Amino acid sequence: MLIVEQLDAFFGKKQVLFGVDLTLPDRSIAAVIGPNGAGKSTVLRAVFGLVPARQGRITLDERNLSAASPLENIAAGIAFVPQGARVFRDLTVTENLRMGGFTLPSRLTAERRVAVLEAFPILAERSNQRAGALSGGERQMLAFAMALMLRPRLLLIDEPSIGLAPMLVTQIFDAIRNIRDQLGTAVLIVEQQAQQVLRIVDTVFVIRAGRLISHGAVEEYRGADILRQVYLSEPSTQRHGEG
Ligand SMILES: Nc1ncnc2c1ncn2[C@@H]1O[C@H](COP(=O)(O)OP(=O)(O)OP(=O)(O)O)[C@@H](O)[C@H]1O
Ligand SMILES: [Mg+2]
Repeated sequence: MLIVEQLDAFFGKKQVLFGVDLTLPDRSIAAVIGPNGAGKSTVLRAVFGLVPARQGRITLDERNLSAASPLENIAAGIAFVPQGARVFRDLTVTENLRMGGFTLPSRLTAERRVAVLEAFPILAERSNQRAGALSGGERQMLAFAMALMLRPRLLLIDEPSIGLAPMLVTQIFDAIRNIRDQLGTAVLIVEQQAQQVLRIVDTVFVIRAGRLISHGAVEEYRGADILRQVYLSEPSTQRHGEG
């Protein structure tokens, strides 16, 4: 469904992505993992159109989105949940969901809100509370719920576990798997807590110093030493799970 080919991205004159390739089939979940500063967030930002792809090609369902703006990408069915659970703290849960669906006709907004709250019972119980009064984990769930109001085909999520207690991290990853199972949304998730995210993904992409250094089915990474090697070893062009 999503195909990223030979993606180069720059901040000013500084190149931060070098020929990154990435494929995400329909209804699947993939993780982009790697050390700090590797370029993980930049991959998501480039796919969403927040950072221009200087070279390379981004296609969704064979539609070329290489030069698409964030608004065009939203219209094409992509949603982005940036790091840090950004919600409107002074608005209630219900009002935040309305903001998530603000481009929809109002009849549809109400319908979608009911459907989204069914997927997040914790939020349904707190629908009239201010988002600022929610726990960190609940706020992260709300950020997902807002993104789902437009029924995206592809959800991009940046480091949802940041600042959360381990038990909440488990809940957040369970919620992401439920989103895929119940709504059929494909998910590309950037995460530093590799062990936790491996529990829910189908595919793994490892980025280091702006380059894809390893990728493959999650089974090849579970329990394997490859992750420690990847995080500790020198950058190389090894390609895991082939040959
Ligand atoms: N707004 C910016 N202006 C200039 N350079 C930037 C900017 N944002 C990121 N960079 C640089 O781009 C490179 C990749 O950053 P990116 O945020 O994609 O890494 P990351 O893998 O997400 O790191 P982290 O795990 O710390 O979130 C880094 O060298 C970073 O310093
Ligand atoms: Mg990042």
